[in-house]
Amino acid sequence: MSGGDHVHPAATRQGKARVGILISGAGSNMAAIIEAAKATDYPADVALVISNNPEAPGLALARAAAVEALAIDHRPFGKDRHAHELAIDSALRTHGVEVVVLAGYMRILTAHLVRAWEGRMLNIHPSLLPKYPGLDTHARAIAAGDAEAGCTVHLVTEGVDEGPVLGQARVPVEAGDTPETLSARVRVAEHRLYPEALAAFIRQRKTAPV
Ligand code: GAR
Repeated sequence: MSGGDHVHPAATRQGKARVGILISGAGSNMAAIIEAAKATDYPADVALVISNNPEAPGLALARAAAVEALAIDHRPFGKDRHAHELAIDSALRTHGVEVVVLAGYMRILTAHLVRAWEGRMLNIHPSLLPKYPGLDTHARAIAAGDAEAGCTVHLVTEGVDEGPVLGQARVPVEAGDTPETLSARVRVAEHRLYPEALAAFIRQRKTAPV
Protein backbone atom coordinates (compact mmCIF):
# COMPACT_ATOMS: atom_id res chain seq x y z
CA MET A 1 0.00 0.00 0.00
CA SER A 2 1.45 3.34 -0.92
CA GLY A 3 0.41 6.33 1.16
CA GLY A 4 0.61 8.83 -1.70
CA ASP A 5 -2.29 10.98 -2.86
CA HIS A 6 -3.44 10.39 -6.37
CA VAL A 7 -5.88 12.15 -8.64
CA HIS A 8 -9.00 10.25 -9.55
CA PRO A 9 -10.30 10.39 -13.10
CA ALA A 10 -13.64 11.56 -11.69
CA ALA A 11 -11.68 14.66 -10.59
CA THR A 12 -12.55 16.48 -7.45
CA ARG A 13 -15.52 18.78 -7.98
CA GLN A 14 -14.42 22.41 -7.85
CA GLY A 15 -11.29 21.49 -5.92
CA LYS A 16 -13.24 19.69 -3.20
CA ALA A 17 -11.44 16.96 -1.26
CA ARG A 18 -12.78 13.47 -1.94
CA VAL A 19 -13.87 11.89 1.33
CA GLY A 20 -14.57 8.21 2.03
CA ILE A 21 -16.73 7.37 5.06
CA LEU A 22 -16.53 4.07 6.94
CA ILE A 23 -19.60 3.02 8.92
CA SER A 24 -20.98 -0.05 10.69
CA GLY A 25 -24.52 0.97 11.59
CA ALA A 26 -27.07 3.76 11.52
CA GLY A 27 -24.86 6.25 9.73
CA SER A 28 -26.38 9.37 11.28
CA ASN A 29 -22.98 11.12 11.37
CA MET A 30 -22.37 10.04 7.79
CA ALA A 31 -25.75 11.54 6.84
CA ALA A 32 -24.85 14.81 8.57
CA ILE A 33 -21.63 15.02 6.54
CA ILE A 34 -23.40 14.14 3.28
CA GLU A 35 -25.94 16.88 4.03
CA ALA A 36 -23.27 19.45 4.86
CA ALA A 37 -21.34 18.55 1.71
CA LYS A 38 -24.30 19.66 -0.43
CA ALA A 39 -23.34 23.28 0.26
CA THR A 40 -21.32 24.70 -2.61
CA ASP A 41 -18.76 26.18 -0.23
CA TYR A 42 -18.23 22.96 1.73
CA PRO A 43 -14.65 21.83 1.02
CA ALA A 44 -15.39 18.08 0.62
CA ASP A 45 -17.41 15.72 -1.52
CA VAL A 46 -18.41 12.31 -0.19
CA ALA A 47 -17.00 10.00 -2.86
CA LEU A 48 -17.77 6.67 -1.20
CA VAL A 49 -19.32 5.04 1.85
CA ILE A 50 -18.14 1.61 2.99
CA SER A 51 -19.69 -0.58 5.66
CA ASN A 52 -18.22 -3.76 7.11
CA ASN A 53 -21.81 -4.69 7.96
CA PRO A 54 -23.97 -5.38 4.89
CA GLU A 55 -27.10 -4.79 7.00
CA ALA A 56 -26.04 -1.30 8.12
CA PRO A 57 -28.99 1.09 7.64
CA GLY A 58 -26.46 3.79 6.69
CA LEU A 59 -25.82 2.05 3.35
CA ALA A 60 -29.38 2.70 2.20
CA LEU A 61 -29.25 6.25 3.57
CA ALA A 62 -26.12 6.95 1.51
CA ARG A 63 -27.63 5.48 -1.66
CA ALA A 64 -30.80 7.51 -1.13
CA ALA A 65 -28.55 10.58 -1.15
CA ALA A 66 -26.97 9.39 -4.43
CA VAL A 67 -23.66 8.51 -2.77
CA GLU A 68 -21.99 5.26 -3.81
CA ALA A 69 -22.09 2.79 -0.93
CA LEU A 70 -20.31 -0.57 -0.69
CA ALA A 71 -20.61 -3.39 1.81
CA ILE A 72 -17.26 -5.03 2.41
CA ASP A 73 -18.28 -7.70 4.90
CA HIS A 74 -15.54 -8.61 7.36
CA ARG A 75 -16.94 -12.08 8.03
CA PRO A 76 -15.67 -13.88 4.90
CA PHE A 77 -12.16 -12.76 5.90
CA GLY A 78 -12.38 -14.62 9.22
CA LYS A 79 -9.48 -13.66 11.47
CA ASP A 80 -7.56 -12.02 8.62
CA ARG A 81 -8.26 -8.40 9.51
CA HIS A 82 -5.40 -7.23 7.34
CA ALA A 83 -6.94 -8.80 4.21
CA HIS A 84 -10.29 -7.17 5.00
CA GLU A 85 -8.59 -3.81 5.38
CA LEU A 86 -6.69 -4.31 2.11
CA ALA A 87 -10.06 -4.67 0.38
CA ILE A 88 -11.26 -1.45 2.04
CA ASP A 89 -8.04 0.36 1.19
CA SER A 90 -8.27 -0.74 -2.42
CA ALA A 91 -11.86 0.53 -2.74
CA LEU A 92 -10.90 3.87 -1.16
CA ARG A 93 -8.01 4.32 -3.59
CA THR A 94 -10.04 3.18 -6.62
CA HIS A 95 -12.51 5.93 -5.78
CA GLY A 96 -9.80 8.57 -5.46
CA VAL A 97 -10.42 9.11 -1.75
CA GLU A 98 -8.07 11.61 -0.11
CA VAL A 99 -9.46 11.76 3.44
CA VAL A 100 -11.07 8.89 5.37
CA VAL A 101 -13.80 9.55 7.93
CA LEU A 102 -14.70 6.90 10.50
CA ALA A 103 -18.32 7.45 11.51
CA GLY A 104 -19.46 4.72 13.87
CA TYR A 105 -17.03 2.22 12.30
CA MET A 106 -16.99 -0.31 15.10
CA ARG A 107 -13.93 -2.38 14.24
CA ILE A 108 -10.50 -1.65 15.64
CA LEU A 109 -8.12 -0.99 12.77
CA THR A 110 -4.78 -2.72 12.35
CA ALA A 111 -1.60 -0.66 12.19
CA HIS A 112 -1.47 -1.31 8.41
CA LEU A 113 -4.57 0.72 7.57
CA VAL A 114 -3.82 3.35 10.20
CA ARG A 115 -0.32 3.90 8.81
CA ALA A 116 -1.55 3.93 5.21
CA TRP A 117 -3.89 6.85 6.02
CA GLU A 118 -1.94 8.51 8.82
CA GLY A 119 -2.75 12.20 9.02
CA ARG A 120 -5.67 11.72 6.63
CA MET A 121 -8.06 9.62 8.75
CA LEU A 122 -10.53 11.11 11.26
CA ASN A 123 -12.76 9.51 13.88
CA ILE A 124 -15.59 10.69 16.10
CA HIS A 125 -15.81 9.30 19.61
CA PRO A 126 -18.75 9.84 22.00
CA SER A 127 -16.84 11.25 24.96
CA LEU A 128 -14.63 14.18 25.87
CA LEU A 129 -11.34 12.38 25.22
CA PRO A 130 -9.01 11.61 26.92
CA LYS A 131 -11.92 10.64 29.19
CA TYR A 132 -13.61 7.34 28.39
CA PRO A 133 -11.88 5.80 25.39
CA GLY A 134 -13.51 2.52 24.31
CA LEU A 135 -17.12 1.50 24.82
CA ASP A 136 -20.05 2.44 27.12
CA THR A 137 -18.92 6.06 27.33
CA HIS A 138 -22.30 7.46 28.38
CA ALA A 139 -22.86 4.92 31.16
CA ARG A 140 -19.35 5.65 32.45
CA ALA A 141 -19.92 9.44 32.42
CA ILE A 142 -23.19 9.02 34.34
CA ALA A 143 -21.65 6.57 36.84
CA ALA A 144 -18.79 9.00 37.50
CA GLY A 145 -21.27 11.80 38.26
CA ASP A 146 -19.84 14.01 35.50
CA ALA A 147 -21.61 17.34 34.97
CA GLU A 148 -20.64 17.37 31.29
CA ALA A 149 -20.33 14.87 28.49
CA GLY A 150 -19.71 15.30 24.80
CA CYS A 151 -17.87 14.10 21.74
CA THR A 152 -14.45 14.39 20.15
CA VAL A 153 -13.23 14.42 16.56
CA HIS A 154 -9.62 13.30 16.37
CA LEU A 155 -7.00 12.05 13.97
CA VAL A 156 -6.64 8.28 14.02
CA THR A 157 -3.35 6.91 15.33
CA GLU A 158 -2.34 3.42 16.33
CA GLY A 159 -3.51 3.87 19.93
CA VAL A 160 -7.29 3.43 20.06
CA ASP A 161 -9.10 6.78 20.64
CA GLU A 162 -5.76 8.47 21.26
CA GLY A 163 -4.95 10.68 18.26
CA PRO A 164 -4.62 14.47 18.21
CA VAL A 165 -7.91 16.21 18.94
CA LEU A 166 -9.40 18.32 16.12
CA GLY A 167 -12.54 19.44 17.93
CA GLN A 168 -14.89 18.74 20.84
CA ALA A 169 -18.49 19.58 21.66
CA ARG A 170 -19.89 19.58 25.20
CA VAL A 171 -23.39 18.87 26.48
CA PRO A 172 -24.70 18.85 30.07
CA VAL A 173 -25.41 15.59 31.87
CA GLU A 174 -28.89 16.12 33.32
CA ALA A 175 -30.48 14.69 36.44
CA GLY A 176 -32.14 11.38 35.62
CA ASP A 177 -30.14 10.86 32.43
CA THR A 178 -29.83 7.30 31.22
CA PRO A 179 -27.16 6.21 28.75
CA GLU A 180 -29.89 6.45 26.07
CA THR A 181 -31.01 10.01 26.86
CA LEU A 182 -27.42 11.21 27.19
CA SER A 183 -26.44 9.45 23.98
CA ALA A 184 -29.28 11.20 22.11
CA ARG A 185 -28.09 14.61 23.38
CA VAL A 186 -24.47 13.86 22.46
CA ARG A 187 -25.54 12.59 19.03
CA VAL A 188 -27.12 15.97 18.20
CA ALA A 189 -23.81 17.63 19.11
CA GLU A 190 -21.91 15.09 16.97
CA HIS A 191 -23.96 16.00 13.92
CA ARG A 192 -22.87 19.63 14.24
CA LEU A 193 -19.28 18.95 15.27
CA TYR A 194 -18.23 16.36 12.69
CA PRO A 195 -19.05 18.29 9.49
CA GLU A 196 -17.46 21.43 10.99
CA ALA A 197 -14.31 19.67 12.20
CA LEU A 198 -13.90 17.86 8.87
CA ALA A 199 -14.27 21.10 6.92
CA ALA A 200 -11.78 22.90 9.18
CA PHE A 201 -9.32 20.02 8.84
CA ILE A 202 -9.53 20.05 5.04
CA ARG A 203 -9.22 23.84 4.80
CA GLN A 204 -6.21 23.80 7.10
CA ARG A 205 -4.66 20.92 5.15
CA LYS A 206 -4.94 22.85 1.90
CA THR A 207 -3.19 25.89 3.28
CA ALA A 208 -0.57 24.02 5.32
CA PRO A 209 2.96 24.13 3.93
CA VAL A 210 3.90 20.85 2.23
C1 GAR B 1 -21.62 7.71 17.27
O1 GAR B 1 -22.17 8.12 18.48
C2 GAR B 1 -20.11 7.67 17.35
O2 GAR B 1 -19.59 8.65 18.20
C3 GAR B 1 -19.89 6.30 17.93
O3 GAR B 1 -20.82 5.48 17.28
C4 GAR B 1 -21.98 6.25 16.98
C5 GAR B 1 -22.33 6.01 15.52
O4 GAR B 1 -23.57 6.55 15.21
N1 GAR B 1 -18.56 5.86 17.67
C6 GAR B 1 -17.85 5.12 18.52
O5 GAR B 1 -18.29 4.72 19.58
C7 GAR B 1 -16.45 4.81 18.05
N2 GAR B 1 -15.67 4.30 19.13
P1 GAR B 1 -24.01 6.76 13.69
O6 GAR B 1 -23.78 5.42 12.97
O7 GAR B 1 -25.45 7.09 13.77
O8 GAR B 1 -23.17 7.86 13.14
